Amino acid sequence: MTDTEEPKKLRLFLAVNLSVATTRKIADAIADMRRAAGGAGLRVAWVPPPNLHLTLKFLGWSNPEIVDAVGDVVGDGVGGRKAFEVEARGAGAFPTEHSARVLWVGLGDPTGGLAKLAADVDGWMAKLGYAKETRPFSPHVTIGRVKEGRGAETILAPHKQTLFGTSLIREVVLYESRMKASGSEYTARLRLPLDAPPFKAERQARESAEAGDDESPEPSG
Ligand code: 2AM
Repeated sequence: MTDTEEPKKLRLFLAVNLSVATTRKIADAIADMRRAAGGAGLRVAWVPPPNLHLTLKFLGWSNPEIVDAVGDVVGDGVGGRKAFEVEARGAGAFPTEHSARVLWVGLGDPTGGLAKLAADVDGWMAKLGYAKETRPFSPHVTIGRVKEGRGAETILAPHKQTLFGTSLIREVVLYESRMKASGSEYTARLRLPLDAPPFKAERQARESAEAGDDESPEPSG
């Protein structure tokens, strides 16, 4: 890269993942709905099971240096709180089932931990210069995006009350999203655990160790 070249921007978002068992159950329902959509003439781009997630905050195109800053701010913020459970239940559509664009699975937040996490992440990212959310947080996992046709309510109907399972949320993930011809490809850039030691101190210790500067002072006493 020359001096005048801009660093390549990354398309980033912060998310949490559901348990493997819950994700599998959602994947089974997607397989069901995919069959039903085919019969109903509804064309949907279904989310592949490894890509299923709940978006806490969409950051969009960002400078690569932001990755370390997100690690420090969000890492330290989430490290001090306890893991919590969410419940994946029911399927629906935005903006409405009759004119569906986004198909989703809903998330129950019995402890309020998810709403608090999303609000805090929004506040932490505002400190880094990202615009605050203006829309109310509506926790969902996107399962598909409608490309053509109507009749989403028919394919969603069997799953309106389905309980897909509970998941313990133990980390926040910073993903990079790359658009490929085959669809979006998500790569985890940071995994920020809840209930963890201070992230910033850990990163600085790791970096100074990698730089060969790992002489820590002798413990006293
Ligand atoms: P969605 O699940 O509500 O569709 C990766 O693209 C994730 O970021 C998706 O889960 C998507 O949320 C979210 N996302 C993409 N573009 C966005 C935008 N412009 N505003 C808010 N969220 C967005």
